[in-house]
Amino acid sequence: MVIALCGYMGSGKSTLGKMLAKKLAFDFVDLDGYIEEKENMSIPQIFANYGEAYFRQCEHSALSSFLNANNTVLSLGGGVPIADENKKLLKGMFVVYIDSSFEDCYKRIKTTDRPIVKQKNKSELEKHYNDRVVHYKKVANLTVYGNNLKKMTEQIVQFVKEKI
Ligand code: S3P
Repeated sequence: MVIALCGYMGSGKSTLGKMLAKKLAFDFVDLDGYIEEKENMSIPQIFANYGEAYFRQCEHSALSSFLNANNTVLSLGGGVPIADENKKLLKGMFVVYIDSSFEDCYKRIKTTDRPIVKQKNKSELEKHYNDRVVHYKKVANLTVYGNNLKKMTEQIVQFVKEKI
């Protein structure tokens, strides 16, 4: 089984994903990290050298390579659930949406070098966040809220155990 964590940039997918993987004794994979290793470039470098469309292709092919993985927690980049071809792949995974508020996400991302953050000001990012939420809700099998990562992890573990 693959548990895929989705949500906006800065929502806590990686932190929560590591806690969840530890709790379940699953492997943890950060999809962006996987792409960086494959391409031998950082995400900002991929965007700068080849453009966003190329990055989205890498993202799709990376996601497809995990479709039949076992016991894996996969932290998705914030843009993954947008493309229809990714939505199809996500149907084969158990998807958890980390629903953090825009302000919480913004605090965590505003000083980072994420290409999309660099391209937009705060109000543009807020609109981008709101546009994305629809897609996250569409792909999610479970949504967890709040700031208490430990509680959120427990909630996911509980839910997943009932499914196994
Ligand atoms: C992106 C989110 C990033 C990364 C890339 C594009 C997006 O991942 O994949 O910079 O389109 O939302 P995180 O959500 O892990 O920051």
